[in-house]
Amino acid sequence: MALWGGRFQSGSSDMFKQVNDSLPFDYVMASQDIFGSIVWSRALKKAGVLSSDEQSQIEQTLALLSDDIETGKIDVSASSEEDIHSFVEAYLTDTLGDLGRKLHTGRSRNDQVATDFRLWVRTHLKGLKQDCLNLIEALLNCAQREKETIIPGYTHLQRAQPVYFAHWCLAYVEMLKRDVSRIDDLSERLNQCPLGSGALAGTTFAVDRYEIAETLGFNGPCLNSLDAVSDRDFVLELLFVASTSMMHLSRLAEDLIFYNSGEAGFLQLGDDVTSGSSLMPQKKNPDALELMRGKCGRVFGHLQALLVTMKGLPLAYNKDMQEDKEGAIDTVNQWHICLCIGVEVLNSMSLNQARCRKAAQQGYANSTELADYLVAKNIPFRTAHDIAGKAVVAAIAQNCALEEMSLDDFKAIHEDIGDDVYACLSLEAVLNKRNQLGGTNHQCVLSALAKEVKNLDAV
Ligand code: ARG
Repeated sequence: MALWGGRFQSGSSDMFKQVNDSLPFDYVMASQDIFGSIVWSRALKKAGVLSSDEQSQIEQTLALLSDDIETGKIDVSASSEEDIHSFVEAYLTDTLGDLGRKLHTGRSRNDQVATDFRLWVRTHLKGLKQDCLNLIEALLNCAQREKETIIPGYTHLQRAQPVYFAHWCLAYVEMLKRDVSRIDDLSERLNQCPLGSGALAGTTFAVDRYEIAETLGFNGPCLNSLDAVSDRDFVLELLFVASTSMMHLSRLAEDLIFYNSGEAGFLQLGDDVTSGSSLMPQKKNPDALELMRGKCGRVFGHLQALLVTMKGLPLAYNKDMQEDKEGAIDTVNQWHICLCIGVEVLNSMSLNQARCRKAAQQGYANSTELADYLVAKNIPFRTAHDIAGKAVVAAIAQNCALEEMSLDDFKAIHEDIGDDVYACLSLEAVLNKRNQLGGTNHQCVLSALAKEVKNLDAV
């Protein structure tokens, strides 16, 4: 039964129920709604609205409901109530009669839904943070397994300079660390309690909002009732934090799709995260990675959708705001799935070290070294750059790598080039010269890796 029948002479149309009801998706907040309701009943007891006995009957009934939902005895999603708040109240009234009808004293679904959804987001952020940490761990394991592996580093998708594969892993670790810190920031900022703000103007009953907030695990109550019921910044932030993290996952996926391609051939993905073609027997497609990349579209869309929904809303609550749920719920699910499948992809892929190394040696990725070598011979960098460019042209003409050119050929390009140039051009030399903080020198990478392993252990 609707919570608001008194003023109406006839019921809702079926189509109205379709557009209006949120239970088909907000049933996921059942445990939050029950928790909030229990805490509200305690506040009402303190305010003298409920007797001790009444409050304990309400609390016990809600606890039973919670158990029955958890064990699957009650399937909330099958209910035809308008929303999760109506469902919980209807259950209480069905069980306790008039006493159940007392719970909503001084409360509105507006402060209720704002509270429930903050609790729901807060809970899921904890899980998502752990998902991010698991992916960081998988990247660190990968880096450890492939400590010696060298790959080409790219700019403009052209081979630029070689890097250790572990350096690539650690780049994504940095991104995920920022994602985790955004989750922490958001969890802190959203942790204020709307309950006790009423429909928009506050409540007339003497409830202790500080105590309510504390019992629900918030840092404190929201300070303005109008803002408390109409603020959905926390949902927007969730969508933004998720979008940014999904963007990182998408770039990781894109890198791996390319590394896995026949053209690069740097790695092989596991059978457990790939699929075949119904027509072409030779195919092993990187579906998991493509979906990590592809699911970004809908998540970015949810962020955009809610921004547009919110932008013109007058204070305070408007029903438009019910549209905050489906996108956010989908976002949380997709983000979780992508973080988890990312772990599986990393765990089951295997690198072809020889092929990676060969690719890192090709593409004249050591020509910066030749320029630096000439700089050491007191030639200005801009001139050295020009000379090295000419050497690349000469090597291309001979269809060989720079280090495969003869000394005579080098001398023909510049007389200052000596026999010592070859040591400079070797792959290890190229890598190990980049030994400043953040560079791809082997020791730098290994100590960065050790540091991140330690950081993760400390979380
Ligand atoms: N189902 C609603 C939502 O998700 C709950 C709040 C309804 N409030 C109201 N005044 N109709 O936003």
